[in-house]
Amino acid sequence: MIVLGIETSCDETGLAVYDTRSWETGKPAFEGILGAALHSQIEMHQDYGGVVPELASRDHIRRLIPLLNKALEASSCTIDKLDGLAYTQGPGLAGALLVGSAFANALALAIQKPIVGIHHLEGHLLSPLLTDDSSEKPDFPFVALLVSGGHTQLMYVKGIGNYQLLGETVDDAAGEAFDKTAKLLGLDYPGGAALSKLAESGKNAGFDLPRPMLHSKDLDFSFSGLKTAVLHQVKKAQSNDCYNESFRANLACAFVEAVTDVLSHKAMVALEQMECRDLVVAGGVGANTQLRKKLTAMATARGYQVHYPPIELCTDNGVMIAFAGALRLLQSSSLITHGAFDIKPRWDLSSLNTGND
Ligand code: KG4
Ligand code: ZN
Repeated sequence: MIVLGIETSCDETGLAVYDTRSWETGKPAFEGILGAALHSQIEMHQDYGGVVPELASRDHIRRLIPLLNKALEASSCTIDKLDGLAYTQGPGLAGALLVGSAFANALALAIQKPIVGIHHLEGHLLSPLLTDDSSEKPDFPFVALLVSGGHTQLMYVKGIGNYQLLGETVDDAAGEAFDKTAKLLGLDYPGGAALSKLAESGKNAGFDLPRPMLHSKDLDFSFSGLKTAVLHQVKKAQSNDCYNESFRANLACAFVEAVTDVLSHKAMVALEQMECRDLVVAGGVGANTQLRKKLTAMATARGYQVHYPPIELCTDNGVMIAFAGALRLLQSSSLITHGAFDIKPRWDLSSLNTGND
């Protein structure tokens, strides 16, 4: 089955074509990626310090057709070869979702092919299955740490479509905390990757930032207080006239250590509680080198294995939607939405459960 995936939930327009043959024959799932095209709107939103929803929607409209042609060309595929379509149905920005949904459904109607709406986080969550080495593939059930700009969740994944929420952030998402802290330190939106780079040149010089909810009895997170603690440190340094380059790098380092400490600790607790061996890390913050290093060290010491998506598939892309859509279409034809292109800007991942343990 050859499936076209379309992602437009926020500020990336991503299209990709996935062929399920390698998945069905037990070959590395990565081999099924026939081709992809991606446009990031980051530069357009940077002047505003964050995503402007109306601009995002308009840009998706402008980009979709050229990107479709590019993705098909990269895949050496034509529209008539497609067996199905998948698009991000939610969660995300309503206008941006509507653009992708209308485009995908119109195309499906025109070529008379089945179409399925995909949960954006399911796309992230399944992307670590896209390994180029089958022995690296996580086994079900596994624990997933989803860390993106809008979500921070620990999920118990029993199988495709069977997700149980173990814990989540009660305020800011990890990526949001990275972006807000980056802004406080004068970095451009979205500052996650730049903050991580700045942190590499600093050292944790006694800032003593909090580790929110580190020892809470649940698997929830809280990151908004951490950003406020950073703000206090910035103000103090500015009034003492010591706000300079090395201060910024040291504070960035202290922040990254605090966030990664909490994420790694709670992920270990989840693995222990659920008696799982495999941890899957997905979402934009999953590209963070400090987090990867800490998680891998802690997991290895405890006999667990951590799985990450290929680095280019950590942030939003069309491949993860094509892949999740392809697996869903293989799994059940009852998921086909037949041109009913409703979107779900707010959508709980656990509600997808099909009960197929
Ligand atoms: O998954 P994603 O592309 O979009 C959402 O679904 O939200 O994640 C974007 C988030 C942003 O907050 C961005 O700053 C963060 O991921 N991010 C990073 C890194 N790369 C992206 N955060 C920390 N370190 C990175 N290397
Ligand atoms: Zn995302």
